[in-house]
Amino acid sequence: MQPIISVKDLCKTYSSGFEALKSINLEVRKGEIFALLGPNGAGKTTLIGAICGIVNPTSGQVSVAGHDIKTDYRAARSMIGLVPQELTTNAFETVRADVSFSRGLFGKPANPALIEKILKDLSLWDKRDAKIITLSGGMKRRHMIAKALSHEPDILFLDEPTAGVDVELRRDMWNLVRQMRETGVTIILTTHYIEEAEEMADRIGVINKGEIVLVENKAELMRNLGKKQLTLLLQTPLESIPQALSAYQLELADGGSELVFTYDSRGERTGITALLADLGKAGIRFKDLQTSQSSLEDIFVNLVSDRT
Ligand SMILES: Nc1ncnc2c1ncn2[C@@H]1O[C@H](COP(=O)(O)OP(=O)(O)OP(=O)(O)O)[C@@H](O)[C@H]1O
Ligand SMILES: [Mg+2]
Repeated sequence: MQPIISVKDLCKTYSSGFEALKSINLEVRKGEIFALLGPNGAGKTTLIGAICGIVNPTSGQVSVAGHDIKTDYRAARSMIGLVPQELTTNAFETVRADVSFSRGLFGKPANPALIEKILKDLSLWDKRDAKIITLSGGMKRRHMIAKALSHEPDILFLDEPTAGVDVELRRDMWNLVRQMRETGVTIILTTHYIEEAEEMADRIGVINKGEIVLVENKAELMRNLGKKQLTLLLQTPLESIPQALSAYQLELADGGSELVFTYDSRGERTGITALLADLGKAGIRFKDLQTSQSSLEDIFVNLVSDRT
């Protein structure tokens, strides 16, 4: 499938001399939810800024639905809605007027019915005549989303959309993002809530120190990098792992009272049956057992810390 966003060899060195993006290559597919994960200062906002034409790249190319963001800026930008990480807004304007105004900035004709729908979808309709300065933090963020949607973009960038948003509202926003995807909007979001990426994303990109370290289908990522562990609570603690069990990937934990077996759940044979039989032969008894699977968070922390 043709990518809707294509980033080639994109570099950004700020005037301070800091290299925030080091030759980024990335393609975003039409209609997907793409989550960009990375620690503070990794370059997420810089990358989004470069794609949206706010940050001037030092070198490289970006095209949005075939429009080069430099030579064909207006066409490229008109397809994009951006919810920035930093909230900026006209404090004394009313919610509805500000959202309508944003639409006008893109040269689109007024459409009060659409603005009403957007405000209702974001639970801001009651606040339509309130001045922006009087909104709570979470409402201000929803207001920014309303603005970004006002010109009916094909691509929506959400830079930390749920920072500072309460749990219930976060769920609402996830639903809204999913609804938008249903209508064909491509969504790129950054987040520090790994749970959010795990829940929402079709694909995940990890950026660290200005470099993309991984782009993968979420399901595949979890399958390939996720480990499964079986923990056996022993009746009698062990001092060391018996020679007879040396063929297994085993570790002792909790002062020898737990035996942890790491295995690959993708294989036809996990080795669990054989291990349990061999434990019996070796006279090792256990009173309980549990299995656990590494989360996206574990995978992410591994990826990012490997490269520091
Ligand atoms: N205008 C600027 N001038 C100089 N350096 C900058 C500028 N903007 C960002 N940087 C630096 O570039 C790096 C990447 O910043 P960026 O805002 O893209 O990170 P981020 O991944 O969005 O981080 P966060 O998770 O904290 O939002 C940081 O080290 C930052 O200090
Ligand atoms: Mg940022």
